[in-house]
Amino acid sequence: MPDLLLRHCNLHRQTAPVDIAITAGKIEAIGESLSLTASQEIDCTNLLVTAPFIEPHIHLDSVLAAGQPRFNGSGTLFEGIQIWGERKHSLTYEDVQKRALAALKLMAGHGVLYVRTHVDVTEPSLVALDALLDLSRQVKDWMTLQVVAFPQDGIFSRKENMSLLETALQRGAHVVGGIPHYELTREDGVQSIHHIFDLAERFDRLIDVHCDEIDDDQSRFVEVIVAEAIKRGNGERVSASHTTAFGSYNDAYAYKFMGFLRRTNVNFIANPLINITLQGRMDTYPKRRGLTRIKELWQSGVNICVGQDCIYDPWYIFGTGSLIGVAYMTVHVAQMTGLDEIDACFDMITGNSAKALHLDDYGLQVGNPANIVVLPTKNAFDSLRLQVTPRYVISRGKIIAETIPAQTNITIK
Ligand code: FE2
Repeated sequence: MPDLLLRHCNLHRQTAPVDIAITAGKIEAIGESLSLTASQEIDCTNLLVTAPFIEPHIHLDSVLAAGQPRFNGSGTLFEGIQIWGERKHSLTYEDVQKRALAALKLMAGHGVLYVRTHVDVTEPSLVALDALLDLSRQVKDWMTLQVVAFPQDGIFSRKENMSLLETALQRGAHVVGGIPHYELTREDGVQSIHHIFDLAERFDRLIDVHCDEIDDDQSRFVEVIVAEAIKRGNGERVSASHTTAFGSYNDAYAYKFMGFLRRTNVNFIANPLINITLQGRMDTYPKRRGLTRIKELWQSGVNICVGQDCIYDPWYIFGTGSLIGVAYMTVHVAQMTGLDEIDACFDMITGNSAKALHLDDYGLQVGNPANIVVLPTKNAFDSLRLQVTPRYVISRGKIIAETIPAQTNITIK
């Protein structure tokens, strides 16, 4: 007998409702009108049932640390890096774990059950790395957490950073990160990408590089990443995060580059909430949006997903933990307002991220872990239009969060 049965579920892009049976933490059966009884049943009539949301890009070491030691007055990326540079000297294991766990719980309530976090590994104690790697083991019964070793200040900008990055991988970081546009010279930036690819091969890791997060139309490290992925044939294991300069490249160059992209399977990860506020700060008017070409990448068949990047930290003072909010913002800033485009934005917080993160147990399929989100709307469009919070979040077969929708009584006639 199943432990839990979800009846009459509407699935994304599927017309006929189905039942989903869950046994011992896994999806046991999916089908129309299953003749089974369970210890607990939930009627999902008119509700959208989906695989969980995936956060492909966040910095859990700095979440919930805004104002410490001061708020970002200019709102720029570089003042954020400066403030973080001051804050990170006082990081402790407990401090990082406490804030990161609070953020993970916040996200779980919004149906996020898979998270990729970057962690700054240019801080010599590597205390944040240790805290997050341990946390990934502590939360594994309800959350899957991938940790990226991220050299925030650059790999070659200080002597010890190269060995810190390597130590982070030896300690178990799941992904190699980088920041070529913040290396001291263009040559160092190019060299850093070769180094990242070498490390990924040596340690058998995925790659996720903060790339061209600047409005400089000459910042073109993404082409180096794509060239390296073409030569090494490992594009599907590589993600280029932010790539905001791509929004400033001239169309002739962008068109040529899109052709190169089709020769590889490099994933793109955009962070529209934060980059719409961070970028374009040096512009007067017209003021650039400072985002990568989300819509055009999607139209070209490139795997693109979207993340939050920050929750209440030195770079971004807002953030709720909701990826529905991120998809909603994507619809606006990428001008993806057609119905199929809105559905595509829903894909960017679900299946597309699963592909980028190489999740092999993701999706509503028999045999997979029962990681399921029930939304209080009948389709993806309405979930974005109304920016809903999940009614139920089920992780490994257990209901771990439940939200009773607020009810507003209108008293005027
Ligand atoms: Fe980031």
